[in-house]
Amino acid sequence: MLFLIPKSYFSYIVKGVMIPRAATALCLAATLCSAAYAQLKGDKPYDVSTAHPVKAIQDTETAAQRDARMRWWREARFGMFIHWGLYSIPGGVWDGKPVPSVGEWIMNTASIPVADYKALAPQFNPTGFSAHDIVALAKSAGMKYIVITSKHHDGFAMFDSKADSFNIVTGTPFHRDPLRELADEAHKQGIKLGFYYSQDQDWTAPGGAALKTGDHKPPTFHWDKAQDGDFATYLHTKAIPQLREVLNHYDPAVIWFDTPTDDMTPQLASEIVTLLNEHPKLIWNNRLGGGYKGDTETPEQYVPDQGFPGEDWESCMTMNDTWGYKSGDTNFKSTETLLRNLIDISSKGGNYLLNIGPDSHGIVPPAEVERLRQMGRWLDVNGEAIYGTSATLFDTPTSIPDPVKKGEDGKPSRIATWNWRSTTAPDKVYVEVFAWPTGALHLGHLTRKVSAAYLLADPKHTPLTFKQSAEGIEVKLPAKPLDPIATVIVLKTEK
Ligand code: GLC
Repeated sequence: MLFLIPKSYFSYIVKGVMIPRAATALCLAATLCSAAYAQLKGDKPYDVSTAHPVKAIQDTETAAQRDARMRWWREARFGMFIHWGLYSIPGGVWDGKPVPSVGEWIMNTASIPVADYKALAPQFNPTGFSAHDIVALAKSAGMKYIVITSKHHDGFAMFDSKADSFNIVTGTPFHRDPLRELADEAHKQGIKLGFYYSQDQDWTAPGGAALKTGDHKPPTFHWDKAQDGDFATYLHTKAIPQLREVLNHYDPAVIWFDTPTDDMTPQLASEIVTLLNEHPKLIWNNRLGGGYKGDTETPEQYVPDQGFPGEDWESCMTMNDTWGYKSGDTNFKSTETLLRNLIDISSKGGNYLLNIGPDSHGIVPPAEVERLRQMGRWLDVNGEAIYGTSATLFDTPTSIPDPVKKGEDGKPSRIATWNWRSTTAPDKVYVEVFAWPTGALHLGHLTRKVSAAYLLADPKHTPLTFKQSAEGIEVKLPAKPLDPIATVIVLKTEK
């Protein structure tokens, strides 16, 4: 059988357990995850070549139809991921002890019994939640879409679900439906809204899958008898009905699946695909399982060195070291790093899905708000160099080989270099300069003829002197950059 390995979401299945590679990298730091890491030995790659029992939209549409469907997403470049659920109550602490690994995994990592975890629901009253403020925050950050957890692996639905009562409207004193409120606000403020839905793992529904952590035993890796049951029954009684609810009641622009295991056979996945096919504008990622490739590659917590030329892809990343809120995690990346990531990803033709984790009151941590606002200020001035652009035309490498570390393929790992990146518009080439040179910037060969150069943040667009030859371009620069993080040079090019 031919294995086509999705390059970004290179997952591993061992006896029903699939581990996303990047999640594993994240886990490496956390001791509890070392068992999960160990199970990678003897793994096999995720197969997306299986003939599909039901054809998905990607199998049937023309290239032009696909371009039209993906258009807004490709132009957007920057989205907000939101991980929010019951796990924000413990916020990484259980029985008074800090629990390692990501916050939304606390039930699994700390082996919390189903009944104890479900007892969090009556305590969940996030009255500080404001859909208006969250949408406004995304907009002020320059983000063009939002993807929020409608149900994470813990099985708790953050919307009004008739299919399962373990949800925010029925099961908590809050009684409000944040997804409805977000959908209305997103519509009002003009931003796309998508939903993450954990279709495969569900730790509170009988039959839902669980990835292994700690000493959980094969074949199910469940830690509570209440989790045992039949996967197909779980899918038919909970996941598929809930997916139908979110698709029909909220009309999301994106469905973001996660952590497929080999429980998700092609046949079962095709039942979900039948549902997805009823929504022809929908965009969905490559984590459904059952051999379906979906629309988007989903590198997690990293930027692929070369991007995925010719494919749609989205790097999802945390701002600190967790997706779901963790009170003790203050390891926030700097605004400089976050902006460089956005620029780096754009220069490789991808999208950046940057996560926030609201707390149990529904409040977004101030450190996250601050960084997003700073990113937005840069984008207010320089957004033209990001939105709707495509990958660089320069073949200058953006990384150097690591002298010590080797990747899974045995080749040296790459270390990113931060001099400059470039993005492309039909009649312009943008050069985002991180390390401001003295005198002039030397760029490699460009296939287009440059007719003028100026700094994007210079309101007068004062012309910069430049020289173009077969070898490359030299642009004379003022002594100081206009922005300490990234100053954009615009090269106007002839078509
Ligand atoms: C991982 C984790 C999950 C998180 C997701 C985001 O696969 O299981 O907790 O939601 O990554 O990409």
